[in-house]
Amino acid sequence: CGIVGYIGLNDAKEILLKGLEKLEYRGYDSSGIAVKNESGVTVFKEKGRIADLRGAVDENTVAHTGIGHTRWATHGIPSRENAHPHQSNSGRLTLVHNGVIENYAILKREYLQDVAFKSETDTEVIVQLIEKFVNDGMEVEEAFRQTLTLLEGSYAIALLDTKNDETIFVAKNKSPLLIGVGKDFNVVASDAMAMLQVTDQFLELMDKEMVIVTKEKVTIKNLSNEEVMRAPYTAELDASDIEKGTYPHYMLKEVDEQPAVIRKIIQAYQNEEGKLAIDYNITEAVSEADRIYIIACGTSYHAGLIGKQFLENMAQIPVEVHVASEFTYNMPLLSKKPLFIFISQSGETADSRAVLVSIKALGHKALTITNVPGSTLSREADYTLLLHAGPEIAVASTKAYTAQVAVLSILANVTGQFRNLEYDFDLVKELGIVATAMEALCDSKEEMEAIAHGYLSVTRNCFFIGRSLDYYVVLEGALKLKEISYIQAEGFAGGELKHGTIALIEEGTPVIALATQAGVNLSIRGNVKEVVARGANPCIISMKGLEEEDDRFIIPEVHELLTPLISVIPLQLIAYYAALHRECDVDKPRNLAKSVTVE
Ligand code: G6P
Repeated sequence: CGIVGYIGLNDAKEILLKGLEKLEYRGYDSSGIAVKNESGVTVFKEKGRIADLRGAVDENTVAHTGIGHTRWATHGIPSRENAHPHQSNSGRLTLVHNGVIENYAILKREYLQDVAFKSETDTEVIVQLIEKFVNDGMEVEEAFRQTLTLLEGSYAIALLDTKNDETIFVAKNKSPLLIGVGKDFNVVASDAMAMLQVTDQFLELMDKEMVIVTKEKVTIKNLSNEEVMRAPYTAELDASDIEKGTYPHYMLKEVDEQPAVIRKIIQAYQNEEGKLAIDYNITEAVSEADRIYIIACGTSYHAGLIGKQFLENMAQIPVEVHVASEFTYNMPLLSKKPLFIFISQSGETADSRAVLVSIKALGHKALTITNVPGSTLSREADYTLLLHAGPEIAVASTKAYTAQVAVLSILANVTGQFRNLEYDFDLVKELGIVATAMEALCDSKEEMEAIAHGYLSVTRNCFFIGRSLDYYVVLEGALKLKEISYIQAEGFAGGELKHGTIALIEEGTPVIALATQAGVNLSIRGNVKEVVARGANPCIISMKGLEEEDDRFIIPEVHELLTPLISVIPLQLIAYYAALHRECDVDKPRNLAKSVTVE
């Protein structure tokens, strides 16, 4: 979910709606705004996209203060009732919330037995509780603070009081939240992107802080009511980076940006002598670890699997890769000197953050690899490496994935050199070759469209197979296809399909195979024969030098270790065109959100 707020002299509803449009990647199953003027607070909510909300907002409403929310449902189905803002029963207080209140049922039982609830959300408990304390005689600010001390879980909250024209009350714990500052106005946003339209000056908030925002002033306090002083920073985002331009979809734009991102990464990680370099402290920390634990979710997890191969090959350090949501309860026996690497495009994923909090409590060191400077995972880890991919807006990750893989290759390479390991590998040159190969692949859209059309226009399912590094890439290829086209897709290690899942192969079932690794070329082709013998419709994507006559597409040759950077591009494009042919919403697939800030 994402939240926004505005207090100033201009048209609040327009600024809030534009802000929510920029936050739509955080969830888009329902949304709402509340605006305040002399006649009180007016709430507009709608199920569906921000465009639906826009249609529901009365254009004639004049207001200069307001708050808004876009939702990714956790407690309660997507509906107008469950959409935010939520109001207290008297209507005096109106609130938006991103996060999950874990003890909401207990609070409801202990404090709010007599209150009639209008929704099924944990959020309504917050607003009703504040009102209860107000009814008990507290001022709103004090009642808000009192409520915050009782909440367990995560929250980014913005609150309006009908009887106070001057103020938006704000609070944060675990969920991301920033205050944007301006002249004669101030704003609130889950992500700077939402408010770049009005300011590039932002104040960071720490957990368990509350803020009193007026149009002239921003006062940050801790929950003991002590004021905290903090200076704003300049958000280094270019508003044009977050526009689609002439592209029909962000995803296609972001696929095409990949060669440029790789070149930017090479530049960013080169020293004056043109050699790859990483901050000394980071290289030292990685080098000294006796084992590395990579923690991530979704696409970032797939990048982590490739990172393991890089680190073990080039730096000779053992690596384990874990899905964040499982790590806490399936924690492996840790080595004596572990180093944790968190890979996260957004730097906000709650599942990953939960692991970071628990390993920090054990006294271990963490490095975050993220696209978002200043994000929660970056701030809370000991070290950060940036992806330099520019804002990624499409929910399905593309350029952030290749950036993650590229940065991991640099980390492994630099660490290997630091440890005096001989590796005959000019990574700067090889990544340059990768960038050029990526360009050629981005120019092959028609062929990818033809493959999508030929193999995927009517099918219910699709299998992806690969061996060695290709295996990790097919996991990502299958995820891309699932996410945006809703075709049931699975990625398998080439040798594994026959141990069960081959039972699903029927006449015409598409099986996409990657063949970019010389050592397993014959074996993967053997696996293709096995499925063809059972009726499958095979699509082999191979690499130049390993190709055979019936291969459907041949990618340019790059260093064998770096093939994941380019073999993923055909798979991204196939998923894109499959989704397009099925008339799916490519950039905002159903049920998903780009940044999942709940566990
Ligand atoms: C969400 C997105 C995925 C993403 C995952 C991890 O589920 O839909 O595309 O891979 O989160 O996100 P992160 O920002 O931590 O890389």
